[in-house]
Amino acid sequence: MQEVDFGIKSGVGHKVFYFDVINSTNTWLKEHAAGCPEGTVVWAEQQLDGRGRMNRRWESPSGMGLYFSVLLKSKLPNDHISLYSLAVSIALKHAVERYVESYNLPAKTIDIKWPNDLFISGKKIAGMLIEAITIEDKICLIIGIGLNITPGEGLLSDEVINISSSLTYFFGGNWERRQLLKMIFQELNEMYIGFSPEEIVKLYRKECSIWGHHCRVYLDGESFSGECLDINDKGELLVKTSKGIRKVISGSLEVKW
Ligand code: BTN
Repeated sequence: MQEVDFGIKSGVGHKVFYFDVINSTNTWLKEHAAGCPEGTVVWAEQQLDGRGRMNRRWESPSGMGLYFSVLLKSKLPNDHISLYSLAVSIALKHAVERYVESYNLPAKTIDIKWPNDLFISGKKIAGMLIEAITIEDKICLIIGIGLNITPGEGLLSDEVINISSSLTYFFGGNWERRQLLKMIFQELNEMYIGFSPEEIVKLYRKECSIWGHHCRVYLDGESFSGECLDINDKGELLVKTSKGIRKVISGSLEVKW
């Protein structure tokens, strides 16, 4: 493990631990959170046991993606914790857009799918696993992000290849991971410092691409379909079904783009 200096003085990215290989950056940060300062980042080239939402695996071979986790441990308003999950997807989208613009790459629409996946042309390019832990009675968040930088042919399973893609596939270019990471840290800091629940809900309604689209929602042992309507002030998804409006607090969503 080594420490990498991103030239960021405080907040997210002021302390970054880099590993060539790790089991999972989320798991490592969870185990070491009590001794790490606010904004600590753990970044790995490869994860042997990368974890995704809904107890899925996140395939994390070397040379393909960015795998990192961020620790937020102070200033979290308890009653709006779930909105952070939405806010982080907006920060990540803005960082990729900023990178694309500053490197003069061709513009492409990046879609957010509730709660926090990033898609381009119906293919997943990034996912997030946000876990809450309690340290000395305070809620802390571990924000784990997996971002596909280069195509995964030969590295990922067919199942993942079929539903995902990468930034290089869509934008070309030789993505400078450190530069992109720095932009992500900057966007996360901006989001965190200026966090306003009302503003996040407003912005998410604008930035998320699923409104009016047909979807299937997968819950524990149940699934139903409907139309993506909106989020409420807690960030929960509202889906219009034949039996009325259903609220989804957590679940997995398949969207017809
Ligand atoms: C998803 O299922 O879409 C979420 C995937 C989250 C993957 C990232 S990679 C870095 C961090 N460490 C993990 O074990 N998972 C997250």
